[in-house]
Amino acid sequence: MKDYFGYKDKVCVVTGASSGMGEATARMLVDLGAKVYAIDLNDCKVDWITEFIKCNLASKEEIDEAFAKIPEHIDAFFGVAGLSGSKTDYRTTFDCNYTANMYITLNYLKNRMSKGGAIVYCTSTAGLEWKKFKREQNKVVHSKTWEEVQEATKKLANSAPSTFAYMYSKRCLSQFACEQAVEFATLGIRVNNVLPGSTDTGMKQEFQDMVGGEEALIAEAGLAGRLATSEEMAAPMVFLNSDMASFTSGLDMVVDYTDTCLKVLGKKKNLEAISATNPIICALAKKMMNKSAKNALNSGKEN
Ligand SMILES: NC(=O)c1ccc[n+]([C@@H]2O[C@H](COP(=O)([O-])OP(=O)(O)OC[C@H]3O[C@@H](n4cnc5c(N)ncnc54)[C@H](O)[C@@H]3O)[C@@H](O)[C@H]2O)c1
Repeated sequence: MKDYFGYKDKVCVVTGASSGMGEATARMLVDLGAKVYAIDLNDCKVDWITEFIKCNLASKEEIDEAFAKIPEHIDAFFGVAGLSGSKTDYRTTFDCNYTANMYITLNYLKNRMSKGGAIVYCTSTAGLEWKKFKREQNKVVHSKTWEEVQEATKKLANSAPSTFAYMYSKRCLSQFACEQAVEFATLGIRVNNVLPGSTDTGMKQEFQDMVGGEEALIAEAGLAGRLATSEEMAAPMVFLNSDMASFTSGLDMVVDYTDTCLKVLGKKKNLEAISATNPIICALAKKMMNKSAKNALNSGKEN
């Protein structure tokens, strides 16, 4: 049998490997013979990984400590960890979703990967409109250090609702992936981006609460009539970082069972086409979210 994917003995780093898509990715990579270095805040249940490294990706120092435990040469990176923003503040959400991936890429992947290496980030269809809002993202995406990103997002972190950090961080990461695909191409390293639609993972309940129930969430899953499974998102990521995708770099791979097609064809309203940084929109959204949180609290008291 020919090993088409070519993962045997490759050093693969997977963030978010303790739940959902990251966990499914780690499992597939183990099955394909890779040496998996799993990074997460919570313990990892995947058998036969090479090493689990506990790390809060919203902390630059913890990332430095984690990468000191990983072999010098890295073959593939899977940036899967993420936060919805419904339970964490703006800063933590943004740093886990964007800043960590930027920092790892520029400080650890650029000099520890070589020709044939591959990177995939997991963004979201919530960041689908990144091309339209490049001007909003440029300041962040062109920041080269952790501190510069903190400075570029300081105002937003104090004024915008933390769920807005989700859309903004995913847009920034999609743009970053596109720009880095060009940078890394000269090194023979591929960079791609997977944009998942609604998926049944540890984050499901948070998204469900945001959109108003399971039915509404399923309506965000295109014409599938169900949510995707974690494995259905892990598979495209594993494919993109494999030898099977050796000529694929700079791709935005939307995995949403036609949800985006419906929007492109005007058969569905595109709710993602709004600014993530406009102060009036952010203030209005914050007010609405505070109001619905208060209502939820009051109805809880009445029950
Ligand atoms: N579930 C969906 O519908 C959906 C849709 C689009 C995109 N996504 C993206 O998919 C990715 C995977 O999420 P999932 O849906 O599998 O959710 P999940 O909650 O099941 O998994 C996320 C993982 O990230 C880890 N994590 C969170 N914050 C961390 C931190 N600060 N440091 C280290 N690890 C941290 C969690 O512990 C968890 O193991 C995320 O980037 C998410 O934004 C999810």
